[in-house]
Amino acid sequence: MSASWLAAQGRLPLAFMGLALAWLVFATGWLVFEPGLLALPHPHPHVVALTHAWVLGFFVSVACGAVYQLAPVALGTTLANERHGWWHFGLHATGVPGMVYSLRVWDLTLLGHLGFVVGLGVLLFTINTWTTVRRSGRGGTVAWSLALAASWLLLTVLLGLLLAANRFWAFLPINPLALLRAHAHLGLVGFFVTLLQGVGFQLVPMFTLGEVRDWRIANVGLAFSQGGLLVLTFGLAWQLSWLALPGALAIATGLGCSGVGLRRALTSRKKRALDPGIRAFLGGCVGVFAASLAAVALVVPGSPWGSAPGGFGAMVYAVLGLAGGLLPCLAGMMCKIVPFLTWMRADGPRVGRGPTPPASGLTRPRLERWGLTLQLAAVAPLLAGTWRLSEPWLRAGTWLLAIGVALFVADMLGVLWHLRFASLPGSTSASVPTTTPDHSRIS
Ligand code: HEM
Repeated sequence: MSASWLAAQGRLPLAFMGLALAWLVFATGWLVFEPGLLALPHPHPHVVALTHAWVLGFFVSVACGAVYQLAPVALGTTLANERHGWWHFGLHATGVPGMVYSLRVWDLTLLGHLGFVVGLGVLLFTINTWTTVRRSGRGGTVAWSLALAASWLLLTVLLGLLLAANRFWAFLPINPLALLRAHAHLGLVGFFVTLLQGVGFQLVPMFTLGEVRDWRIANVGLAFSQGGLLVLTFGLAWQLSWLALPGALAIATGLGCSGVGLRRALTSRKKRALDPGIRAFLGGCVGVFAASLAAVALVVPGSPWGSAPGGFGAMVYAVLGLAGGLLPCLAGMMCKIVPFLTWMRADGPRVGRGPTPPASGLTRPRLERWGLTLQLAAVAPLLAGTWRLSEPWLRAGTWLLAIGVALFVADMLGVLWHLRFASLPGSTSASVPTTTPDHSRIS
């Protein structure tokens, strides 16, 4: 493997990670300035705009960057089309800010145009992922989860565009709130949960030096959540709670199975101490499972809870799933992937030619631990504030979140600063007699 190959690695995923960090700062700042948004009904345009700043700006950017990084590693191949990956980056970077703006001012024409730009990027991403999986000739949980997650993301975007068109022309004989719920679950469960159910089995063993000895439970987990999501989506769109309930139950069961599988993989690990990134990722998986149980309670036929603000309802469920589940999962993932890629670009080419630090040496563990802990600590006051419609609790939660995010971003920027060594003269030209980087060094 040549040094130039190592140095060229990771540009695309790192670009997505950088974009995600910018969105994380913006979306957190927005919440600090307007914590009261979490006390509004969730279909309010300002809440929908804030949701997309978090979901499309931060979560989707991290997840797409992770797919561009992990798919070739997990499938033992190269990305099918790196140029399309850069087109996706450009379309996503330009389209999402405009989408968030148009949702906030509720300009549906502008939303349609910018949603189309974002959708084009997602189409390229989906085709790239499918082609990479197909070309690798691999099957199994990770390959399936990558292909399925990309497909659900494309479907989410198409439904999002349909929602916007329907708000404008009102041509569908379906309740818009029911369609909103179907769209939201296709995105949150279809893209993120599906990805976690596959990528988790790649990431956790890779960074803890463990192994998955039996893939059956992981496959069962994935199958349950996929079937469950199909049923749930129809149940939500047509407001059939007797159909939505088994769907939600199947997703919760699938998550439980994946959790058992991940636990087993963890028990085989050689690296006994778990670092903050892996802990956050695993904590986030527990949060996602808790949110799936909340969803079951919400869709039980005759459930008194719905979309109205205050009490246990859609907003509390969303805060639990997003702040208590997806945020720690994706932030934890970044803590592993960003140093790994930075190391590949900056230090990979120098392996065998002099001393190089391990990838884990690029982070500042105390900053990382405090950042992730405060983000997690923010979940309780945010939930209390959303439940009780209490401004002081919401303020406390958003400030805790903001401090946690500031420390986390400082840590990530410190890691990325190491990239300045990537362009050292001569660091990218020589051939180095190494094979794939040794994970005991990079983890
Ligand atoms: C081109 C892409 C997208 C467009 C045009 C779009 C459009 C919309 C619209 C118009 C709504 C509000 C619906 C209404 O009030 O009737 C909405 C809600 C929502 N969307 Fe999207 N969306 C897109 C992508 C996504 C993606 C990729 C995700 C998640 C992965 C997502 C997650 C959500 C969620 C969670 C809500 C509910 C927000 C709330 O209730 O506050 N959207 N979307």
